[in-house]
Amino acid sequence: MLAKIKEALMGDLPAFAADPIGFVETRTLGQPAPVPVQLGPKKAVLVATPSAFRHVLVDGRDRYGKGSEQARLRPLLGDGLITASGDRWKAARDAVKSSFGGASLQQGIGMAMGVLCQETAMLAAREGELLDLHALMGELTMKMVVAALFHARMDTQQSAAVYGAGVVAHERLTETMWRAIDLDMLLPTRKHRRFKSAIRTLETHIAAFLSNPCGPLAALTPLQQQFGPAVLRDEAMTMLVAGFETTAMAAAWLVYILAARPDLVDWLRPEAEGASNGGWGLDPARLRDLPRCKAMVQEVLRLYPSTWWVARQALTDDVIDGTSVPKGATILLSPWALHRQPAHWAEPSVFNPQRFIDTVPDKFAFVPFGMGPRTCVGAQLALAELTALAVMMVSAFDLIPESGQVERLRPVGGVTLGPPTRGLKIRISTRKAARIAA
Ligand code: HEM
Repeated sequence: MLAKIKEALMGDLPAFAADPIGFVETRTLGQPAPVPVQLGPKKAVLVATPSAFRHVLVDGRDRYGKGSEQARLRPLLGDGLITASGDRWKAARDAVKSSFGGASLQQGIGMAMGVLCQETAMLAAREGELLDLHALMGELTMKMVVAALFHARMDTQQSAAVYGAGVVAHERLTETMWRAIDLDMLLPTRKHRRFKSAIRTLETHIAAFLSNPCGPLAALTPLQQQFGPAVLRDEAMTMLVAGFETTAMAAAWLVYILAARPDLVDWLRPEAEGASNGGWGLDPARLRDLPRCKAMVQEVLRLYPSTWWVARQALTDDVIDGTSVPKGATILLSPWALHRQPAHWAEPSVFNPQRFIDTVPDKFAFVPFGMGPRTCVGAQLALAELTALAVMMVSAFDLIPESGQVERLRPVGGVTLGPPTRGLKIRISTRKAARIAA
């Protein structure tokens, strides 16, 4: 009896919360249309086909707003680009687009590349050590995104503090995202105090970067007149959080797959060595002409899209590919499942970057950066960082996997994709060619 009441109240929520990725996969793979589910009190619809992605994010976008899940992100992100809507979002989006495009973006990418080269050279000193890729890539991408956004350099102590705070915030949001009610937000529990303290750490560092305004984010200063002083804090926090955790996770998978698949290293090395002169240097202009490294990054983002779900809320009753969507329903769009649909990808679970060289994927079947008006503003920066990372790791190091076969490693489906519970670990040894070039 109790079990029946619980089932009626919670619906699919316990199964979803226990294994979000497994749940979405089981329900959507092979299905030609969106799948209705009941997540606690919420009616939800799982979307994992190209035509339904196109409908919600592009053609029928006026019928969908940002989901109520965004409210859970507000204590961290405030009213930044990810959480904002209406005029506030439009003004910030236009400002970010103009400050973070063209020459300014190229300058930011150049600065991020400088950080990458320096950090790769320093990594050589850690030869033989057991390295946790999530932490290593978290601090690296944090330093790169800070260089690109604020034109500032972080030392190792700063990046470790900011990375640590980012991890606490990420874990907390993952834990609370799908709860029907988040009591911790109302009560001063230990976990909630830790979360608040992590936010303060991030705010302190952001305030320090903003106190010497240069780089693309400084161009947002005029928005303060219209939207008040918090606008800079909120946009800087949003760009920092959105820009480091996502890229860090993709970077960790990229490096682990390189370690686990020597055949791919052999395939990439001639191209990578040409771009890095066999050593520790890298010319950002060369990044545009590296088809294999680019395909490697695309395949990582296909099978391990850091933003493995995005949410919208139906503003009106609608029908998507024959599935009824009631007003107010949560729409969960999953790039993870979309990128594995057997109808759109040959051997979907096989990691094979060659597929991106042989064919151009349907643009609605491959959406690691989303699509439509709210598509990722940092996509170009992220792609440049990941392609450059592939170049540097392949040309400077031999990589030894320490977490077993990559096919057996299952990421955790949190607020974004998290590392497998036992992590992604490797050892490195510096290649002879790179030693000579150094
Ligand atoms: C591999 C790395 C990344 C991935 C996979 C990724 C993915 C995404 C996706 C899927 C969206 C769309 C969300 C939606 O439609 O609701 C998005 C939005 C966003 N991304 Fe990224 N992102 C990455 C890197 C970055 C970087 C480096 C930055 C900034 C430096 C960034 C900043 C943002 C922001 C601010 C938005 C919100 C845009 C808006 O709503 O107008 N992202 N990202």
